[in-house]
Amino acid sequence: MSLYPFLFEHVLRRIPAEAAHRLAAAALGVAGRSPLRELVRRLLAPRDPALAVEALGLRFPSPVGVAAGVDKEATSFAGLGALGFGFVEVGTITAEGQPGNPKPRVWRLIEDRGLLNAMGFPNPGAVTVAGRLARRRGGGIVGVNVGKGKDTPLADAAADYRASVRELAAFADFIVVNVSSPNTAGLRSLQAVDHLRRILDEVRAELASLGLTRPLLVKLSPDLTDDELDEVADLAVAHGVAGIVTVNTTTSRAGLASEPAILANPGGVSGAPLKPRALEVLRRLHARVGSQVALVSVGGIESAQDVWDRIVAGATLVQGYTGFVYGGPLWPKRLNDELAARVHAAGAHSLQALVGAETPMTTAA
Ligand code: FNR
Repeated sequence: MSLYPFLFEHVLRRIPAEAAHRLAAAALGVAGRSPLRELVRRLLAPRDPALAVEALGLRFPSPVGVAAGVDKEATSFAGLGALGFGFVEVGTITAEGQPGNPKPRVWRLIEDRGLLNAMGFPNPGAVTVAGRLARRRGGGIVGVNVGKGKDTPLADAAADYRASVRELAAFADFIVVNVSSPNTAGLRSLQAVDHLRRILDEVRAELASLGLTRPLLVKLSPDLTDDELDEVADLAVAHGVAGIVTVNTTTSRAGLASEPAILANPGGVSGAPLKPRALEVLRRLHARVGSQVALVSVGGIESAQDVWDRIVAGATLVQGYTGFVYGGPLWPKRLNDELAARVHAAGAHSLQALVGAETPMTTAA
């Protein structure tokens, strides 16, 4: 048994999930600030040029990134980058800091290789996070995911997103408008195109008044209907949105094997149970937007095969959270090494050349 499965089995899974997360975040924070970081980076960085991807006007050394929620406070991104991730999405950040929902608010779904969380965006607020990002050194790509504060009425949501962007945009390589977390009341209703259009307009106006251009992405829920997905996809194209992050956690408990008492908690499910829907949503969006909008696929990615499936289905970038929790610190390197080997075995020059390469299903006439 290698070290991480041993540590997970005998230490991490015996302490509450959020405490284990804080322990890992503290270790990453220390590693990110110490001279060790360069050594770790040298050992684990994605090096094979076949993995490099151009998207959002940026060059990513690997398409495998860290999903929002892992670095909620902008304290771990440097350590995460050193582990070999191609990029980190910090957040969700709200304009004002807030404590999030009462604990416990994260549960492991071991039997399902998943997690259930009802965090509710605990974070120190846009000003504090901007200060931390302003001090970042080194070249790792860091995006920021912004959300609505718990106490902000839905009618004022657009101004709230705009206020976060005002503080954060200068220090972010890209910005993700999160309208899909299930743990802030009413947030997901902002995916309705009229709401979303208003938020995007406000954010764009803010970027213009700051004199900044930043790729703007929207993060969607797997619980949207197919028609709703199509509407948002059309809005994204019409609005010149650079990317769609797809998908956030699901409120569905269908097909889960974990203890009913755990599943009865509120919140969104992530990890392996999301895999089929994440792929389905990705295919639908790709069919709708083609290469006009970059697709960032997230949800249930555990292996290099999963990454491959997303790339050929149309994703230019992918992200993981739960797969990383179960896979441990060497998870990104394992994925990167195996992906590079597969690209070469397939006789392709780069992973990017395979984006959307999956043969579309055709029905016989
Ligand atoms: C998340 N996720 C998330 N997403 C987001 O946009 N803002 C956030 O603050 C969080 N917070 C968060 C906390 C915890 C504990 C988890 C497990 C997840 C969702 C995450 O970014 C991702 O979309 C889903 O978890 C699906 O990916 P995985 O976990 O299946 O790889």
